[in-house]
Amino acid sequence: MTKTKYDEIQDYLMVNQSIWLITGAAGFIGSNLLEKLLILNQKVVGLDNFDTGYQHNVDQAIRDASQETGKDLSGNFTFINGDIRNLDDCKLACRGVNYVLHQAALGSVPRSIENPINTNKANIDGFLNMLVASKDENVRSFVYAASSSTYGDHPDLPKVEDNIGNPLSPYAVTKLVNELYARVFASCYNFNAIGLRYFNIFGKRQDPNGSYAAVIPRWISNVLNNEDVHINGDGKTSRDFCYIDNTIQMNILAATSNNQAAANQIYNVALNDSTSLNNLFKIIQEGLVKRIDGLQKKDPIYREFRAGDVRHSMANIDKARLLLKYQPKFNIYDGMEETMDWYMESLIK
Ligand SMILES: NC(=O)c1ccc[n+]([C@@H]2O[C@H](COP(=O)([O-])OP(=O)(O)OC[C@H]3O[C@@H](n4cnc5c(N)ncnc54)[C@H](O)[C@@H]3O)[C@@H](O)[C@H]2O)c1
Repeated sequence: MTKTKYDEIQDYLMVNQSIWLITGAAGFIGSNLLEKLLILNQKVVGLDNFDTGYQHNVDQAIRDASQETGKDLSGNFTFINGDIRNLDDCKLACRGVNYVLHQAALGSVPRSIENPINTNKANIDGFLNMLVASKDENVRSFVYAASSSTYGDHPDLPKVEDNIGNPLSPYAVTKLVNELYARVFASCYNFNAIGLRYFNIFGKRQDPNGSYAAVIPRWISNVLNNEDVHINGDGKTSRDFCYIDNTIQMNILAATSNNQAAANQIYNVALNDSTSLNNLFKIIQEGLVKRIDGLQKKDPIYREFRAGDVRHSMANIDKARLLLKYQPKFNIYDGMEETMDWYMESLIK
């Protein structure tokens, strides 16, 4: 079988160690990036203030990577309990670093509607601090978590990177401002920043708890605990759900790319697929009923549409395929199988 670009880069990394900074390393995406980079024999610095992340995510990532490779990899990881809103913490974290994967932010549209000031501080002030610290440290590349929310009210489907509408929430404003700052840093300082517009990412270690939990871990937890599942709206709302493994691939491809045309760009991170909430519920319910003896099927409860939500979201991923050689390995069904297996083990004591 011919090797993909991602295969080649993984081979290269295994024998060429660099230092990576992951901000938000105690969160869902950050801890999965941490695990993969440790498996690839990289040195990693993690920065997190535990606002929405957990120490156990970091511990699990190191444990899983060590188990996978049969080596104790804890010595390749340094953790900084710090805050991106503090420039000194960012400077400390960036010291000697080659690649930055900037994930730290306050996620969730509803959270930003309730407290726009907090979201702004973490997502804009914190982002600017990280850009300045990374530029001053001359890092090789800076890859950051942008968001599909930047498409806002633009009607076209699938979403193409150049065509965005008006933001529909404070969260979306912050993610748009990130892109504007990154572009200005490219033109003013010749700084290389690549934005990854994540669509709905899912997989292990995504937090199922709290009022701002994402739909997949929340529904898995609801079904496992025999609780009601609430669907906002009529269930025909659709998303381009993207498994974490594809997201890791995009981060690594973007950070290590030598393609001049790929630098300072924005990319959709998704599958170019569309799944309605009704279908998602079916996948979860059938998947868990198949796994657990005696688990009964239950109808979901429909309620009001949620403020700030877009109706349909689906990405065109041609740009990532062309410039970064992105080849997503997991479709939603494969990703959901992995994810449900993991939650079964971690949520059922
Ligand atoms: N999960 C998704 O579907 C999705 C979609 C679009 C964009 N994103 C973006 O991806 C990134 C990671 O999201 P996630 O799903 O892993 O969320 P998460 O909440 O699990 O992780 C975010 C991490 O950042 C940390 N953090 C927050 N504020 C901080 C601060 N001021 N200083 C230091 N650390 C701080 C949190 O403690 C947490 O560990 C975020 O930027 C988010 O906006 C995620």
